[in-house]
Amino acid sequence: MPVGIITGASKGLGRALAAALAERGWDLVLDARTASALEEAARDLAAHGTRVEAVAGDVTDAGHRADLVAAARGLGGLDLLVNNASALGAEPLVRLEELTPEGLRQALETNVVAALGLLQGALPLLRASGAGAVVDISSDAAVEAYETWGGYGASKAALDHLSAVLAVEEPGIRVWAVDPGDMRTDLYEAAVPGDDASGRPSPGTVVPAFLRLLDERPPSGRYSAPSLLDVAGAVSVDAR
Ligand SMILES: NC(=O)c1ccc[n+]([C@@H]2O[C@H](COP(=O)([O-])OP(=O)(O)OC[C@H]3O[C@@H](n4cnc5c(N)ncnc54)[C@H](OP(=O)(O)O)[C@@H]3O)[C@@H](O)[C@H]2O)c1
Repeated sequence: MPVGIITGASKGLGRALAAALAERGWDLVLDARTASALEEAARDLAAHGTRVEAVAGDVTDAGHRADLVAAARGLGGLDLLVNNASALGAEPLVRLEELTPEGLRQALETNVVAALGLLQGALPLLRASGAGAVVDISSDAAVEAYETWGGYGASKAALDHLSAVLAVEEPGIRVWAVDPGDMRTDLYEAAVPGDDASGRPSPGTVVPAFLRLLDERPPSGRYSAPSLLDVAGAVSVDAR
């Protein structure tokens, strides 16, 4: 069975993606800081009969990242790394004039430095897989200039660029940076409290976009979930 690591898998997009992969028979290593929520998510997945290792911790902790890779090794290897856990840098979001250096550092540490650190630990297993893939969860804030989304957007732009360079350096691995589009999650509510969520899709509705990547294995590049969900539209943003 294929093995995947998904960070930030106790709720939101990470949990929805984990459920879909478990349903397809994937063995999974899941991470989040809040152990109780992570264990509850892992218990839910147990119904699918695959092996699920819930490893609670903070992705900014190098020891925790090593534990995630070790758990995958214990499951037999690694075929997919999903860097999904994310920090906003300020909750609620603030204009750049108010963004603290600590907030920006937190966004960069979680969204970029930790993602690279986990990738570095996971690379030997991904190379050995023969069908290794990395999904780095991006945002349209990485490419569009939205008021108050500057620190978070800068961190996602940096993650996009790491993904693009990794794809060049590791032609044997698929590296997809994916903008999932706006979703109704705690992260969005923390970013913009009280914003009308009625028009935003639930995370589960974008999961088919990720399954399409895994099924069709298009070239490495930057994709958006809405274009992947449009059957005719799965073109890498980089390729446009
Ligand atoms: N929601 C949107 O509209 C939207 C739009 C574009 C992109 N995205 C991206 O989509 C991804 C998923 O976001 P979401 O909206 O699903 O968020 P969410 O529902 O708030 O879930 C975030 C997950 O990450 C975990 N997490 C946060 N910081 C962590 C850390 N330092 N170490 C380990 N786990 C951590 C959280 O659990 P703990 O708090 O217990 O650690 C939780 O499991 C993120 O990369 C986000 O930037 C979201």
